[in-house]
Order: sequence, then C-alpha cells, then structure tokens
Amino acid sequence: MKAIVYSEYGSPDVLHIEDIDKPVPEDNEILIRVCAAEATKADCEIRSFHFAVIWFWLPFRFAMGLLKPKKKVLGGYFSGVVETVGKNVTKFKPGNQVFGSTQIKFGAYAEYLCLPDSFTIVPKPKSMSFVEAAAVPLGGLNALHFMTKANIQKGDKVLINGAGGSIGTFALQIAKAMGAEVSVVDSSIKEEVLRSIGADHFFDYSKEDFTKSGQSYDVIFNMVARSSYSKCIKLLKPGGRYLIGNPRVSDMLRSFFTSKFTSQTASFAFAGEKEQELLELKAMIEVGTIKSIVDKVYSPEQVAEAHRRVETEQRLGVVVINMENS
Ligand SMILES: NC(=O)c1ccc[n+]([C@@H]2O[C@H](COP(=O)([O-])OP(=O)(O)OC[C@H]3O[C@@H](n4cnc5c(N)ncnc54)[C@H](OP(=O)(O)O)[C@@H]3O)[C@@H](O)[C@H]2O)c1
Repeated sequence: MKAIVYSEYGSPDVLHIEDIDKPVPEDNEILIRVCAAEATKADCEIRSFHFAVIWFWLPFRFAMGLLKPKKKVLGGYFSGVVETVGKNVTKFKPGNQVFGSTQIKFGAYAEYLCLPDSFTIVPKPKSMSFVEAAAVPLGGLNALHFMTKANIQKGDKVLINGAGGSIGTFALQIAKAMGAEVSVVDSSIKEEVLRSIGADHFFDYSKEDFTKSGQSYDVIFNMVARSSYSKCIKLLKPGGRYLIGNPRVSDMLRSFFTSKFTSQTASFAFAGEKEQELLELKAMIEVGTIKSIVDKVYSPEQVAEAHRRVETEQRLGVVVINMENS
C-alpha cells in the first residue's frame, strides 16, 4: 500500500510517498481504509523535533526514536471505512464509516491503518464528508476535555488564547454552546471566521495585549506556549479557572500552588480522548451545535506543502490530507 513516510527528523521535505506492507489485523483489530487524515501541529513537531515547550523533548525522543523515527508513518486523527475485522471484533463490520484517533500508534498517513477495536473510533457523523470528519477528533476531543474541566456556567466570561487553531475553534463553539460569553485572541486574519462561529470579542495579538484590557474572566483557556502565567491568573475573577494547553514545567508547579492556596484553579491535564467524548462530539455535530473549520485539503503527494501550511500558521482552521486523492 502507499503511505507517507519519513526516515529522519527534519523539514517537511523529509516526508515522501513509499510502498509499504499493508497491515493485517490481529483478532481484536480492525483494518481501516483511510479516507482523510488531519495534518496536525503535533505531526509537524514530531517530524521536526521542535516543540513549543522544551520539557517534551527528552521523553518524546526516547519514545519516538533517539536517532531516527521508530514509527515511519505519522497521522493521529483520521476518517475512513472499515475494510476487514479480526475474528474477536463485534463492534465493527466491513463497510462501517468511522472517524477517530490512533493515539500514540500514529499511522493515519497511509492507505490502510490497523487499530485495536478498543481505541477511540466511532461512526462518522452522517452529515459530514470524510474530510470534515477527519478535522474533528484532535481539536474536538481536546476542546471538550478542557471545556468540561472548566465547569462553564451560563453567562460565564471565557477567554480563549490561540482560538484560531485546531483546538481553539472547537473550544469556542463548545463554550458558546455551554452559554458563555467568549473572547478570543488570535491574529487578525482569523477574526471573521472566529466571529462567524460565535466569538463575542476579538483581540488581535499583534496589535493588542489582552492582559492589559482591564477585563476579568471566569475561565481562561490558553493554548499559546510561553504565555505569562501571572498575567493570566491576574485576569481571573475569584473562583476563576485557568486551563493550560501547552504548559511549561514552571506553569505546572505554579498551578499546584494557585489551586491549593487561592480561590482560583489552574490545570493542565492532557485529554484522555475517550470514546464517549467522541460520541458526544458526533451528537453535537449532528444537531448542528459544532462544525469543523477546514482550511485547505491536500493530496498525499502535497504533504510537505500541507505541513508548511500548518507551520506557517496562515491557516484558518484545520489542514487535511485527502488520502483518496492521489
Ligand atoms: N494539552 C494537550 O492535551 C494538548 C493536546 C494537543 C495539542 N496541544 C498543544 O496545544 C497547542 C494548540 O494546539 P492546536 O492544535 O490548536 O494548535 P494550532 O492549530 O497551531 O493553534 C494555535 C493558534 O494560536 C495562534 N497563536 C500563535 N501565537 C499566538 C499568540 N501569541 N497569541 C494568540 N494566539 C496565538 C495561532 O495563530 P497564528 O497564525 O497567528 O500563529 C493559531 O491559530 C499546540 O501547541 C499543541 O502542541 C496540547
């Protein structure tokens, strides 16, 4: 089968198409024909081994391969069609249209993908194309995780810093559905699309420092690495919640003291990406509460261009690789 592979860490040009063995499902696995996969920030960070927060580097390098990548096929989030199932699988049948997460197995940048049936894989929303569905799991699961943790009440004032990315666009829509008044921070090119999915107030970070706006918030969700912890905490109302998507070690330590010794809470927990949460997102999509914002769709041959688009941050929403388009 055809797959997008990389054999060394580096620029987007290390990605290329190769013929590799088609995987064969074990008894508890399903074989999925991949239709589309999101090109994520995480794929780019792992390919180049440059991370916004430095503490990731060492544990990840051991996990992913010290000198060269152990897993040659990237891609953590996909949509596709079940091709065959192992003999113990009862949850899926050939022909089922699904979307989900490969967790740290990666492998979605390929024609076929084999995953245990216990992974977070659920029926694709009928109202969505495969491309739109592949743009959901990363952003949707992380956003739902953090917005649930934020315990948003109707009328709460919520600020999302870095709202124009994969996670932020879903966090904004979910916070609005929970009844919040939402302020967002991102670059000006994203204002129109963010307002169209519900943003009440917009800060262009290149012109305005939201920490000096004089506003206070019940919830701040911060996706921007190296943001000032103390400036964000100062904007919180008593009882406010600060959620950090990209924490530094110092943020993690300070969040313990904030939560223990003040009325405010700071947390940075990673999303568990549970099946129940993806089903919840599917239900929200089907009633029209949330949708994916797809920026551009690339063919597998254009994967280097897709990664460049993710890295240069000119995109409005999610970049998707259409695996059927080669
Ligand atoms: N905690 C977790 O479980 C978890 C899981 C997945 C990912 N993450 C991390 O969370 C971060 C967000 O993920 P994502 O996939 O949503 O990333 P993304 O798609 O790259 O979104 C980040 C957004 O932040 C904007 N931005 C950059 N600098 C900014 C600034 N100074 N102020 C305000 N906005 C700014 C970017 O816009 P520009 O175009 O202007 O740069 C972009 O729209 C990533 O760094 C990722 O590694 C955390």
